[in-house]
Amino acid sequence: MKYLTFALAKGRLAREALQLFEDTGMPMKEMRDPDTRKLIFTNEELGLKMFLSKSSDVPTYVEYGAADIGVVGKDTLTEEGRKLYEVLDLGFGKCSMCVCGPAEAAEYLKHGRTIRVATKYPNTARDYFYNKKHQTVEIIKLHGSVELAPIVGLSEVIVDIVQTGTTLKENGLTVLEEICPVSARVVVNQVSMKMQNERIMKIIRDLKEAVS
Ligand code: PRP
Repeated sequence: MKYLTFALAKGRLAREALQLFEDTGMPMKEMRDPDTRKLIFTNEELGLKMFLSKSSDVPTYVEYGAADIGVVGKDTLTEEGRKLYEVLDLGFGKCSMCVCGPAEAAEYLKHGRTIRVATKYPNTARDYFYNKKHQTVEIIKLHGSVELAPIVGLSEVIVDIVQTGTTLKENGLTVLEEICPVSARVVVNQVSMKMQNERIMKIIRDLKEAVS
């Protein structure tokens, strides 16, 4: 049997996905050990391989067919814009993509001023401001702790995901506009979907039943 390979976005999404895989008869016990430094795991009996990767790399592995199936947030899928099939919303990892900043920054969004927007999601931010709001902005790419940007004067606002809202609250920031909801999605390589259709469709059906 040919292996089916899964790429999972490291962190909370992977933990929830591994629980779900276990519930649907695809246990990968070794992978749930938080101390392991191993990168790829195999279930010989079921013909499965799974690996964890940085979330922004999951769509890349899946587009190139290095993984047949991926589990990754909708935020990353939208940002990466890779060619793959998005087949299932798993309903966990829920959060929102938002424009955030100090409450006073709301004015800048109304009057179409040229403002600076710091974000880990430059494509998403560009699309929102240019195509939806028709506002000219300067996008500043950051790699983390984006909430710092308006506090230290790097930008007027940020585009980032908000889950509990704690990071914003603890830093005196607020949601100014909501861009879109986000949750964990299952994605499939386009060739794998054709070549291993029956096997992949069964997995999707089982996952769908388990999350519905
Ligand atoms: C994410 C996101 C926010 C925070 C939102 O950051 O970029 O900073 O979580 O969560 P909250 O609304 O529950 O506070 P992450 O923890 O991934 O770290 P990073 O900013 O360094 O990427």
